[in-house]
Amino acid sequence: MRLSRRFNQPGQAGQTGQVNAIARERSRLVAAGAKLTDLTDSNPTHCGLGSPAALEAVARAARRSGRYEPDPKGPLEAREALAERFGGGPDDYWLTASTSEAYSWVFAVLADPGEAVATPAPGYPLIEPLAALAGLTTLECRWHYLEPDGWCLDPVALARAAESGARAFVLVNPGNPTGAYVSPATARTVVEACQAAGAALIADEVFGPFHLEAPPTSLAGRDDVVTFAFSGLSKLLCAPQLKLAWIRLSGPARDLAPTRDALDQVADTFLSPALPVALALPELLAMSDAVVSATRARLAANLAAVRQAFGCDPYRLRRCEGGWSAILDLPPDWGRDPAGSPPHGRAAEPAVRLMREHGLAAHPGWFYDIVDRPALVLSLLPEPLQFEQNCARLHAALTQLGDGPLVPYRGTDLLS
Ligand SMILES: Cc1ncc(COP(=O)(O)O)c(C=O)c1O
Repeated sequence: MRLSRRFNQPGQAGQTGQVNAIARERSRLVAAGAKLTDLTDSNPTHCGLGSPAALEAVARAARRSGRYEPDPKGPLEAREALAERFGGGPDDYWLTASTSEAYSWVFAVLADPGEAVATPAPGYPLIEPLAALAGLTTLECRWHYLEPDGWCLDPVALARAAESGARAFVLVNPGNPTGAYVSPATARTVVEACQAAGAALIADEVFGPFHLEAPPTSLAGRDDVVTFAFSGLSKLLCAPQLKLAWIRLSGPARDLAPTRDALDQVADTFLSPALPVALALPELLAMSDAVVSATRARLAANLAAVRQAFGCDPYRLRRCEGGWSAILDLPPDWGRDPAGSPPHGRAAEPAVRLMREHGLAAHPGWFYDIVDRPALVLSLLPEPLQFEQNCARLHAALTQLGDGPLVPYRGTDLLS
């Protein structure tokens, strides 16, 4: 028996039996009894966020779920609540079990196997494997970081993707982990690229409400290009376990009818969301304001703490407009291999040594396609006192590592 070619393609995320060397090292240390402090945990249910009342609401709705009359788009009362809160009409929304599922439905609607979608890099690491599972390739549209302005989209990469026939342009607004919102000017440029390529816009806005150092923007509801905007309870209610997300469709009237039909067909094939959580959605949305404000207060406190700990040379905390992560730049020559290793090797070195020598688990920037400078990506979700202590430990550990001899890891050591 052989598996689908979606798996085991060199360089693809869907490789079976392959774990990257940092994850392998982490498992090895944990198996050997090491107690690692996780600086990467962005699961809100581990961090005391979310609302116990949400689970009660779903339990109450479960009692109303005995009779099932499937509606492929999700129950009308749920879609009415979405329209009332976010705009559009109830027929513009489709419920899915997750945003990941929303990607796969929309990819199925927009592109044939072998075609390409344009994806931001850095943007959100799961998009590429999701595209690969749909039989699609990705065209990377790089975002560059410029201090102090922040992240900006490479217009040449965008134009190339349009010329190469991208069927959709994905924007993650704000990006994960960049936290960068899409400015109105960038949105206009991407819409023009969509129009030139006859492509659609996919706007992943799960982190939209969590703005920190800049006001939020939204691409949902645009009428100048077919736009699929995603959001869901995993972030809005800090409740990934409830498994409910949604797609909002908008765009020029002439394109909408066939797109609706196609999306209806996919939805009807899966009938995916569970009825109790869908019926509870009006109540859950009403609870989300309190969850978002508590989460934003925590993110802001932790961002201030990490700025305080790492606000000056040789470190740099990148501008963080929103989202749940901070990007901490390390000294540019950290772990640099004099023989010239790929960027992976450079940035992985501190992450491995932090784990081995200091019991601190942090993601290197290259996990997320941040390859311009060695960096660590830290979750801003933990409880603030704990977070502040972790920042102090990280600072002390990095100082110690920086003072010692740099023992470079070659990319091949880490990635083989
Ligand atoms: C940008 C982005 N979109 C989507 C998701 C996944 O959301 P869901 O749990 O709804 O699949 C994540 C998860 O972290 C994310 O970072």
